[in-house]
Amino acid sequence: MLKLFGALVVLGLVLALQHLTAGEGDVSKGSSPPFPGGGLNNIFWFIQVSDIHISRFHDPRRIPDFEKFCTDTIEVIKPALVLATGDLTDAKTESKVGSLQHEVEWQAYHNILKKSRVMERTRWIDIRGNHDAFNIMSLDSVNNYYRKYSANQKVGSFHYVHKTPFGNYSFVCADATLTPGPKRPYNFFGILSQTQMDLLDTFRTESLKSNQSIWFGHYTTSTVVSPFPGVRDLMRSAVAYLCGHLHTLGGLMPVLHSRHPHGTLELELGDWMDNRRYRVLAFDHDLLSFSDLRFEQWPAVLITNPKDAQYQHPGVEPLGRIRRSTHIRILAFSEAPITAVHVSIDGEPLGKGHSAGGPLYVLLWDPSLYLTGLHTIRVKVEDSAGRSTVREQHFTLEDNLTPSFGFLQSFILLTDHYILGRMVFMFTILLNIGVLLTFRFLRVPSGRGLPFQVFMSLHLVSKMDTFYYSLLLFNLCTALGPWFIGELIDGHSGACFAFGVFIDGHFLEGSLTYVVGVIQLLFFNMPLTSYLCWSLHHRCRGNTFRSHFLRPGCRWRTLVVHVFMLLLLTWQVHSCYFLLETYGPTAFFLSPVRTWALGLSLLLVYRAWTGPVPLIHDSSKSVSPS
Ligand SMILES: *[C@@H]1O[C@H](CO)[C@@H](O)[C@H](O)[C@H]1NC(C)=O
Ligand SMILES: *[C@@H]1O[C@H](CO)[C@@H](O)[C@H](O)[C@H]1NC(C)=O
Repeated sequence: MLKLFGALVVLGLVLALQHLTAGEGDVSKGSSPPFPGGGLNNIFWFIQVSDIHISRFHDPRRIPDFEKFCTDTIEVIKPALVLATGDLTDAKTESKVGSLQHEVEWQAYHNILKKSRVMERTRWIDIRGNHDAFNIMSLDSVNNYYRKYSANQKVGSFHYVHKTPFGNYSFVCADATLTPGPKRPYNFFGILSQTQMDLLDTFRTESLKSNQSIWFGHYTTSTVVSPFPGVRDLMRSAVAYLCGHLHTLGGLMPVLHSRHPHGTLELELGDWMDNRRYRVLAFDHDLLSFSDLRFEQWPAVLITNPKDAQYQHPGVEPLGRIRRSTHIRILAFSEAPITAVHVSIDGEPLGKGHSAGGPLYVLLWDPSLYLTGLHTIRVKVEDSAGRSTVREQHFTLEDNLTPSFGFLQSFILLTDHYILGRMVFMFTILLNIGVLLTFRFLRVPSGRGLPFQVFMSLHLVSKMDTFYYSLLLFNLCTALGPWFIGELIDGHSGACFAFGVFIDGHFLEGSLTYVVGVIQLLFFNMPLTSYLCWSLHHRCRGNTFRSHFLRPGCRWRTLVVHVFMLLLLTWQVHSCYFLLETYGPTAFFLSPVRTWALGLSLLLVYRAWTGPVPLIHDSSKSVSPS
């Protein structure tokens, strides 16, 4: 079992590494027309916005800004469709600890859609995110307000075909939100069951008839639990998968883009919530291009031909068309009229683009001048309000010259983090239990020095029944037993284990639980064991709680150890409070790994300092009884 998980994680790492190297190409694809020229044809554009988090408590600007986005931004850009990829509402309590659906937040969202009449002006496709699924027992529950207030109202995955005179384009939604949807934080990972995977596979087959397909969903593929061969394999014929959920990790990863083993791009979009991000994408002659933008930053610029080399998908895009194109093509949007579109390649000015109708600007070019190597196109767009935007991107007309994505981005987007979490959890728990068992049955050695003292203290803890059985039971309970039992959804009880969550007869496979488990082990179980070792070690040398404090020379070190343990206990107290806030009093009182563990650890610490201990005579140290 462990070997399999190990193999899977290694596979994830290899895939991440593989994407540091260049992708493969087949530029013969795209040798047939239509080729990008000087007219407003074979092109449409659309918008993605994600993680809106309409909140009744926080950031009062969020709602009016979003309304302005639906009114003004959509009016300027006039997208063919809009994908709102989940977390439409925040669904948290004012303290941000608890979670539940607030009807007023959904009404606010609904009112924006109605007041802005955005649904009359474009095709608005909104799907649920994990926040929109907090505390919902079933899709028919009255508090599943998505069914009442969203534009789409379609729960589950679906396939939408956008039809144009020049081609059909598939948009496949992969809905991995949980049903039942537990409260925070245990729906951070999504799950796709085999049935849902089968449905998605039929969508994939259908979408092969379209010119291109885009997949979208709320979760990154790295935060979806799915049966083999996994969700990435399903979307192998898509040019890109659009998602949100990670909020660019709070700004740590401002760009989270990568490429799947099959070549599909995974493009995480930053949140609307704090960063007011949105994305404009375009299919121009079946080549996808996009630009990640910020609300009210005009002009918005998107170079559709030649497309960005980084984001080529040679397997499905007709990249050869770039070589046969006659014009550079740029989409430029602004609230004020566009006054100039300056184009240069490799630092050499080529001239000004002229309007080809709508937001499209074109400029005649000769691709044969750039047949080899990587080149840089730079476009500066000015509007009559005196604003300007510069956009620069690399392009290439060669095969096998697709620049790679950063290792960290690929690691975050391409690793199955629940498998990694499960592996680290199992390793840590086995380490804990293994050490206790080993020292229980190992003979007491003789010796001196620091390693000897550490071993000696482990012998003490393992050989004194009170400590040995308490710690063993505690670790076994962390591994196998329920962590807490309580209302995981209001009115529905359940139990949380490391390997998953049970709610009213439903089972949700473990994912974030493993991560929480690792944190619990690293920041509580292990420090507690170490602290008990340390305390008993002192006791056995004839010290008491008072006397070991007064030992000359060691006072600071002693103080640091106690403060550290106190901090960890405080953290555990906070975890208990968190349980009380999120899942109510039942969970607080029926919690072996939280509340009970806190009581147990206090008892053990008390016992370590006051209970009977064997005295050890250590000749290397002078014992100083008080
Ligand atoms: C879309 O596919 C159809 C059928 O294969 C093809 O005739 C058409 O040219 C394609 N559209 C574009 C923009 O390439
Ligand atoms: C788009 O699909 C329809 C069937 O739904 C088909 O009749 C039409 O020819 C397709 N258009 C293109 C350009 O492939």
